[in-house]
Amino acid sequence: MGDRLVGKNAVVTGGGRGIGRTVCLALAQEGANVVVCDLGGSMDGSGNQEASPADEVVKECEAFGVKAVANYGNVASFADAEGMIKACVDNFGRIDILVNIAGIDRPKMIWNMSEEEFDQVVAVHLKGTFNTTRHAAPLMREQRYGRIINCVSEAYQGGVTHINYGAAKGGIASFSYGTARELGKYGVTCNVFVPRASTRMVQGEDVKKMIAKRVEAGFMTQEKADEMALDTMPPEYFTSFMAYLASDEAKDVNGQVFLTTPGALGLFSQPEITLQERHNPNIDGPWTFGQCAQIAKEKLLVNYKNPAPEQPPKEKK
Ligand SMILES: NC(=O)c1ccc[n+]([C@@H]2O[C@H](COP(=O)([O-])OP(=O)(O)OC[C@H]3O[C@@H](n4cnc5c(N)ncnc54)[C@H](O)[C@@H]3O)[C@@H](O)[C@H]2O)c1
Repeated sequence: MGDRLVGKNAVVTGGGRGIGRTVCLALAQEGANVVVCDLGGSMDGSGNQEASPADEVVKECEAFGVKAVANYGNVASFADAEGMIKACVDNFGRIDILVNIAGIDRPKMIWNMSEEEFDQVVAVHLKGTFNTTRHAAPLMREQRYGRIINCVSEAYQGGVTHINYGAAKGGIASFSYGTARELGKYGVTCNVFVPRASTRMVQGEDVKKMIAKRVEAGFMTQEKADEMALDTMPPEYFTSFMAYLASDEAKDVNGQVFLTTPGALGLFSQPEITLQERHNPNIDGPWTFGQCAQIAKEKLLVNYKNPAPEQPPKEKK
């Protein structure tokens, strides 16, 4: 039992299972009071909702001697998200830490994905992260203290077979860069972690088959697949990192995206312009087609590699 978060109050969404559960425990272990938010849904967001996962985690947190309460709202609802932040203020006095982890996955290739599959994944991940943050931000800004920690996936770099999920996660990264810049001067930080862990979201034969298919289709290297298999271990192996980000020790850590896995802690690069060719549009006018093609080929794309070059069609069996 540590004491680095004693007196701090946290809201953790998706706290009933998987990574969210272990983040609740990592914060409680350092002395934080926790609102465990989880509607108890199935992995694809469908099916009956059960309150039990959040209730169980509340008991596990309390075993560390902290206060904990459950909240069964849906992060995709703006009103429910307000209730999560309010539960923290009403029960513990104020909110210091917000960790957005709730998530679902509805994998399909782009040519098979329905509008509903796209909308639902974006609603839970991206809109859900906005919803809770929107309600916490004024309170954190006013008290000049806060830690917002959001959860992304390597799919944000262009993962295939679930572009709804990857796009929502990419949106969360951009959302976090901006939130960090808006709130930083008020003593509120916003950072992101990119996990790999053995939870129901990545366990099972289906996922193993999907990864093997990605390697076979050239979407993923064998080396990356081996690395992922090695990191498929319980999230307890890295959730101290979220306790660190939530602590006073991480006061000046802001707007960063961290890789957090059982085998590796890392930092992602920030999006930046790596090459540019300039002219003065007042003198030179609009770029011509010829200039565009020439600059692209001769300046911008010199070290470029197409991530998915065209392949001949497979012969029908
Ligand atoms: N497991 C991994 O390796 C991995 C990798 C990259 C990213 N992630 C991300 O980590 C997060 C947690 O994933 P996990 O693997 O622990 O999955 P999980 O399915 O075990 O846990 C997700 C929890 O979120 C809850 N939830 C889902 N929709 C909700 C909603 N609308 N409102 C409130 N709660 C909701 C679920 O009930 C569940 O308990 C997700 O955002 C996921 O995208 C996981």
